Amino acid sequence: MSIYLNNAATTWPKPETVPKSIYDFIVNRGANVARGSASVRDIQSLDNVFSCRQKLAEFLGGYEKCDPRFITLTSNITESINIVVKGFLRPGMKAVTSSMEHNSVLRPLRRAETEGVALEIIPCSLKGYMDPALLKKAVSDGADIAIINHCSNVSGSLQNIWDIAEVCRESNVPIVVDCAQTAGIVKISAKDLGAAALCFTGHKGLFGPQGTGGIVWDPDFAKKCSPLIEGGTGSVSHEEYQPVQMPDKFEAGTPNLPGIAGLLASVEWIENEGIEKIRKHEDNLGRMLEEGLRKIDNLRIIGPGEGDPRLPVYSFNIKGKDNARLARDLSDIYGIETRPGLHCAPLAHRTLGTFPEGALRISPGYFNTADDIRHALNALTELAKN
Ligand SMILES: Cc1ncc(COP(=O)(O)O)c(C=O)c1O
Repeated sequence: MSIYLNNAATTWPKPETVPKSIYDFIVNRGANVARGSASVRDIQSLDNVFSCRQKLAEFLGGYEKCDPRFITLTSNITESINIVVKGFLRPGMKAVTSSMEHNSVLRPLRRAETEGVALEIIPCSLKGYMDPALLKKAVSDGADIAIINHCSNVSGSLQNIWDIAEVCRESNVPIVVDCAQTAGIVKISAKDLGAAALCFTGHKGLFGPQGTGGIVWDPDFAKKCSPLIEGGTGSVSHEEYQPVQMPDKFEAGTPNLPGIAGLLASVEWIENEGIEKIRKHEDNLGRMLEEGLRKIDNLRIIGPGEGDPRLPVYSFNIKGKDNARLARDLSDIYGIETRPGLHCAPLAHRTLGTFPEGALRISPGYFNTADDIRHALNALTELAKN
């Protein structure tokens, strides 16, 4: 039996309706989108994509009747962030970000820097939090964009994104939020935040399949970005240039239609289950895990302290133990799946004081039970002793 405690990497298992919808799409529908003869199956494919956009517009956009064209569907949040960074930044501009970012933000920004974009990285605290006063200083000195992580995939530090967005709003700087760890778990709305773009991935807290993600755009900001990829859109086929109208502007090529069917099913499932219920269960497991970890000799949890705002993503080190070896022993001996190392976030580890050795991460999810946590704590207690 295996116990999956690596939900920050991807949530597993998925709600039953997700694989069912993917299967149903492939077996019973399966037509391409906007590339047919308007048969019933063509319309069903259009409906699949339209309904998913509409659902995401309500769920993450915060708009009751949001124009679903301003939801771009991508393969993952890495693609979403690349669309924004490469589509917006030009030499001579300035971008601001935090020291808790995932490489999906840092690497495109570092590339932009080599091409003449000024980059300011705001140092976060040892607990992984950004001080809005530091951001205020950085943006009031003049910035073209701020790209900020909502919750760290290393330490679970949950930023006060409302204060951060307020600082950006006061300075008239567009804010782009990396919601990879929060979408589906923390209530968030692009409209209430006033975000220029809210980027998300489908396979984590949204419980969708891998290969899905997207962007909720502020329409004015979308106009200022150029597309990352160009090609067939199934629309305005007489035009040799990429269309400027949404959603086609940022969506060339056949989309992940089975994935989109799965993502629609997963967001509907979250709505039925209740986002508060999901968060509460995950938080309870997190607290139980934290209490147990604090009792293990020589184990040091990195990032937030007791009671600090967080999601249940816990990274830690045990004195004298290699975190990769610990992860392997947890897996081989106890059947517990975790993730060691640097978690694609080297700068976050530098901020948290765990570079270059990294840490072992345990991230419970909605389908875990208290028994899973007990099992993991017993295993870690034994491994820490040996
Ligand atoms: C905070 C954060 N941003 C971005 C990503 C990248 O996600 P994806 O691989 O789905 O593009 C992750 C994945 O771990 C993440 O945790």
